[in-house]
Amino acid sequence: MSHLSLHKDYPWLKPHAPIIVGAPMMKITMSAAAVAISAAGGLGFLAAGFDVTSLPSDLSSAAKLISSNPALTSHATNGILPIGVGFQNWGADMSKSLGALRDFPVAAVWFFAPKQISDLEAWTRAAREMSRGRTKVWIQIGTVAEALEAARCCRPDVLVVQGADSGGHGLLQRAGLVTLLPEVADALGREGFQIPLFAAGGVVEGRGAAAALSLGAAGVVLGTRLLACKESVIAKGYQDEVLRVSDGGTSTVSTTVYDAVRGITGWPEAYTGRGVANKSHTDALNGMSDAENQELYKAAMKLGDKGWGPEGRMTTYAGTGVGLVREVKTAAEIVSEVQRDCISGLRRAKERFDAKPRL
Ligand SMILES: Cc1cc2nc3c(=O)[nH]c(=O)nc-3n(C[C@H](O)[C@H](O)[C@H](O)COP(=O)(O)O)c2cc1C
Repeated sequence: MSHLSLHKDYPWLKPHAPIIVGAPMMKITMSAAAVAISAAGGLGFLAAGFDVTSLPSDLSSAAKLISSNPALTSHATNGILPIGVGFQNWGADMSKSLGALRDFPVAAVWFFAPKQISDLEAWTRAAREMSRGRTKVWIQIGTVAEALEAARCCRPDVLVVQGADSGGHGLLQRAGLVTLLPEVADALGREGFQIPLFAAGGVVEGRGAAAALSLGAAGVVLGTRLLACKESVIAKGYQDEVLRVSDGGTSTVSTTVYDAVRGITGWPEAYTGRGVANKSHTDALNGMSDAENQELYKAAMKLGDKGWGPEGRMTTYAGTGVGLVREVKTAAEIVSEVQRDCISGLRRAKERFDAKPRL
């Protein structure tokens, strides 16, 4: 497997350490978070989402931050920004997106949730042609079938395997990482593909990262954890809710209700979004119409940070790992903590079996 080539493709990655990737999270992991994660020796993805109108200015601000960050300046000199950009392909306009990337080429693009996987073929070809192969293509998938289809039509540089615990949007029907990642690896292997797999979904700290690497992942993706990152763009009410909530298997739900109340249309049908259960959700379950629920949501928006909470209606997209997110830290602290705890977790596991058996 080409783990070593990852360090060649992204030379600022911390050597001899687990690869930590910051997920693109729409409107949250923007230039500051993406740059801070890369500067900490990980790979940060700036979220372009489905409406790419602000992408040129977001990339321009990332370029400024990079040019003033001593950890990254030398890596930006070849004209490629040492960050990635993540798209929600079902809604992102391809020519506008590529236009922004032409002005500010990046090390990697991340594709997610196209209307159909085959749509990504054109995106992949264009991204590679435009950068003469220097922009690497990452595709986030949620099933074995999607992984195979993406591999066959795009030959991506990386596949991100998104397991069922993930926060935000994902396929309604998919397995957790413990089964999904090895089955994806086996299926790809049988067809002769050698594509590094990154684990996304429920990886919040070192123990989860160690588990993912044991499953064969080349690195891990943090999403929910970065909701409590100093460089993320997030309302205090949202962040406080992330810190408050525990036991994500019961406190979060995977639903289309939050898209409905926020008036977001266009997600392909197979997707729902995981977030903390709140009043919008319980009212929908009890039969409230989308129109009424939307009105109440609009009213809650006027409450500012008080709009969040168990009795609130503002959406807290987060994964089942939310209970492990307990403190706001900088991107640098998060990356180095997860790397350190991952390595010590793997060492501890190994030591259990290194001991000489008693005779
Ligand atoms: C608040 C939030 C917003 C997200 N937005 C995006 C997005 O814009 N594009 C995308 O590809 N994935 C998005 N995701 C999903 C992540 O890519 C990733 O799969 C997920 O966060 C990993 O699981 P975790 O949240 O348990 O770490 C989002 C996730 C969250 C929690």
